[in-house]
Amino acid sequence: MTFEKICIQRYGADVPAPPIPAEVVEMRASDQPFVRLMADVLDEVIAERIAPDEHAHVAAIEARRAELEACEDEITYLDFGAATKYAEQTAEEMYQGVERSRSLGAMCRRSSKPYRGALMLMKLVRRIQPETCLELGSGLGFTAAYQAAALKLNGKGHLVTLEGPASIAAVARATIADLGHGRVSVQVGRWQDTLDAVLSAHRPFDVAFIDGHHDRDASIGYFEAILPALSDGAVFILDDIRWSQGMLEAWTEISAHPRVNAAIDLVDTGIVQIGDQAKAAERHKLT
Ligand SMILES: C[S@@+](CC[C@H](N)C(=O)[O-])C[C@H]1O[C@@H](n2cnc3c(N)ncnc32)[C@H](O)[C@@H]1O
Repeated sequence: MTFEKICIQRYGADVPAPPIPAEVVEMRASDQPFVRLMADVLDEVIAERIAPDEHAHVAAIEARRAELEACEDEITYLDFGAATKYAEQTAEEMYQGVERSRSLGAMCRRSSKPYRGALMLMKLVRRIQPETCLELGSGLGFTAAYQAAALKLNGKGHLVTLEGPASIAAVARATIADLGHGRVSVQVGRWQDTLDAVLSAHRPFDVAFIDGHHDRDASIGYFEAILPALSDGAVFILDDIRWSQGMLEAWTEISAHPRVNAAIDLVDTGIVQIGDQAKAAERHKLT
């Protein structure tokens, strides 16, 4: 069951007054402001409450998604991520990458975060009002576009998004530019080569989102590299936490880190808040 399916299953278009899920009710009663904020975000996304000023952005981004999903143009790129769920590649093999070619439509359908998950990012960025956001994995630009829309509506903030292959980054840039969003810079290159310089140049980050590579050790390594560059109270998001056993192990380790105040498991995405509270982290899981 994915977050997307939970949303659709609970609240189909024909259900007029959706009940608030029990997990979200529980989160609302938390004494941690971030957990209550996440309850509001989830409630809005599950019930699909989109404010009028957000609506034009959502419609434009989803129109671009439909256009790319139908596009048969071929794109060739080096894939730097884990090729299988079974961790058969070494770090060096992933660094070298594997050449692949597929249609833009296939890539869009396979790799872009679906609507509800991307909307959740937009709602989160709207509520957090960050100064600086970091994204590892621009892909074709959809999660960057949703975050950029939120920053534009916030009237402040900047997103730095990192993408390996120049061919993919060019499509991300076009997605963001086509939608008229400023506030985003796309950094091209392997994260192993580009992340440190980005962290030094733009820290501190209030939001960090990792969506790619899909390798246990690499994911933990990115978290450890990013952690010192996060502001107090920052939000760190790891996508595809159940893509493989290794990704689930990475999420388990990250969410148990002593600097984590709260951990929210949205089935396919894990969200933690960073801080230095004395008590054990509060944990919630949407099932
Ligand atoms: C799932 S896609 C990102 C999708 C995007 N966040 C969205 O939903 O719109 C992951 C991207 O990460 C990139 N990537 C994966 N591992 C990388 C690495 N080690 N260095 C640079 N880019 C990498 C891939 O090229 C791919 O485009």
